[in-house]
Amino acid sequence: MSQSINIQRLSELKRAGEKIVALTAYDASFARVLAECGVEVILVGDSLGTVLHGERNTLRVGLDDMVYHTRIATRGAGGAFVLADMPFMSYATPERAFDGAARLIGEAGAHMVKLEGGGWLCATVEQLTTRGIPVCAHLGLTPQWVRKFGGHRAQGRDAQAAEIMLRDALALEAAGAELLVLECVPAKLAARISKAVRMPVIGIGAGADCDGQVLVLYDLIGVSDWSPKAARNFLQGAGDIRAAVRAYVQAVKSGAFPGPEHGID
Ligand code: KIV
Repeated sequence: MSQSINIQRLSELKRAGEKIVALTAYDASFARVLAECGVEVILVGDSLGTVLHGERNTLRVGLDDMVYHTRIATRGAGGAFVLADMPFMSYATPERAFDGAARLIGEAGAHMVKLEGGGWLCATVEQLTTRGIPVCAHLGLTPQWVRKFGGHRAQGRDAQAAEIMLRDALALEAAGAELLVLECVPAKLAARISKAVRMPVIGIGAGADCDGQVLVLYDLIGVSDWSPKAARNFLQGAGDIRAAVRAYVQAVKSGAFPGPEHGID
């Protein structure tokens, strides 16, 4: 990657209408491959709880896990933008959020932290961002809410839920969030939110009209034991992992991925 990616560059890509490519990585070797293949955002996601640790959900991932994996991923990430997930309950109060985010940014080297949740997080987002910690919000199917949702279920499907999500996105942006992940929401709603906010919106299972796309790396290379509808195995027919990642980058940039079959109604 010739240019180091920062949030200003991601915003420029949104304004220019060029899709942003994001992918998860949890270690230096995969982070290096992703950066070399043109992935702009490396997400050290708490999905590591499922794909690395073999858990059924992300609830047992702890802050030490996230600090460790973020630190080793940043070693390979080159000029890519490193986004790190804050794990379950680590931001239940603004004070806890400070401590965890400070470790992810200061100790582990992340460029931004990601928090799952809606309007209730505005005070935390404001307090983090006014103290120099950049924040990405995450709405829709927020996996840390699996108990509350009663499973990994798509969100925002009825008119009222859609309005609340749009309102939350605007409120989180006003509180200081500079990036938004939308997971498993109807494509029309994701398109509406992406238009309404200035910050770049990265989708997964949220249609083609978001400003960028993210996938879990292990789904892209077909080693997850279960693959969500949002994903596609890019290794099939590609030959090797680098070719698969390059095919994904090209498919996102050209708008060929995702197709309607990767979204929900
Ligand atoms: O943890 C993760 O990998 C994520 C993506 C699925 C968006 O949050």
